[in-house]
Amino acid sequence: MLPPTTLFLVCSCIRQPKVGFVVQELSWLNGSPDARLQQIRRTAGSGRLRGSPGSVAGQDGAAVLPLTVRFSEACERNKEPILQVLRQWLPPQVRVLEVGSGSGQHAVHVARQLAGLQWQPSDRAEYLADLRERISLEGREGLAPGAQLADPLELDVDRADQWPQGPYEAVFSANTTHIMEAASVPRLLAGAARVLAPGGLLLLYGPFLGGGVPTAPSNAAFDAHLRSLDSAMGLRDAREVSEQALDLGLEALADEAMPANNRTLVFRKRDAAVV
Ligand SMILES: C[S@@+](CC[C@H](N)C(=O)[O-])C[C@H]1O[C@@H](n2cnc3c(N)ncnc32)[C@H](O)[C@@H]1O
Repeated sequence: MLPPTTLFLVCSCIRQPKVGFVVQELSWLNGSPDARLQQIRRTAGSGRLRGSPGSVAGQDGAAVLPLTVRFSEACERNKEPILQVLRQWLPPQVRVLEVGSGSGQHAVHVARQLAGLQWQPSDRAEYLADLRERISLEGREGLAPGAQLADPLELDVDRADQWPQGPYEAVFSANTTHIMEAASVPRLLAGAARVLAPGGLLLLYGPFLGGGVPTAPSNAAFDAHLRSLDSAMGLRDAREVSEQALDLGLEALADEAMPANNRTLVFRKRDAAVV
């Protein structure tokens, strides 16, 4: 288990307080729900706690501290550039599976902007309640004409049985490949290749190493920091990801430069994918 204090340095996701505290969100990281509760305990200073999607309370029920939904400042910064790259690549009336939706902020933002979009958010079990909370609070109104935001699915890319049937015309995932362990990345690619319709697109947004692009100092530092926290985490090499994808029938179409040294890798499923 990673020490909770060090996790502060990695995650920019916070729960914004209704009552008296801010909890830096820890739970993007592997196996961290306990760390998250411990952090809540330390920050709230209210003894033993139980957590629920909307509240944290002392065990005696005396100290009830309502929480708002998971929130990521990074999402707020990058949601517009991500929308623009999706707008550029996604066809109209597209069915999209999002992997590792996290706070759900991207899901809500794109569904409010792209008419006819059918967006399926998903995440691992431990984060699903928060994701569902966001979608139920924000994802039911103000959507673009014809856009639909489905109830989030439980999906861990390592669990072949959790992948939906599809087909989808696109799979999107932001900031996940450096958080999941390296061995999970080809599973993400394989799962995407399985659920994509022929010609469908996989779009991976986030920081990557190499792949013909000089590694930015900030990304090298971020990579080193992640690995120092947990050797399973770390930025992935874009060329290696592209080679893995090709083996699975996903050919690289584009490597879009994004703000803050992020990239969007775009792949297309070949007509006869090897999966
Ligand atoms: C840094 S957060 C990014 C969340 C959101 N996509 C965003 O851009 O803000 C990393 C996400 O990767 C997800 N993740 C990590 N390992 C995963 C796995 N094996 N399967 C599915 N999602 C995973 C986490 O649950 C979390 O939602």
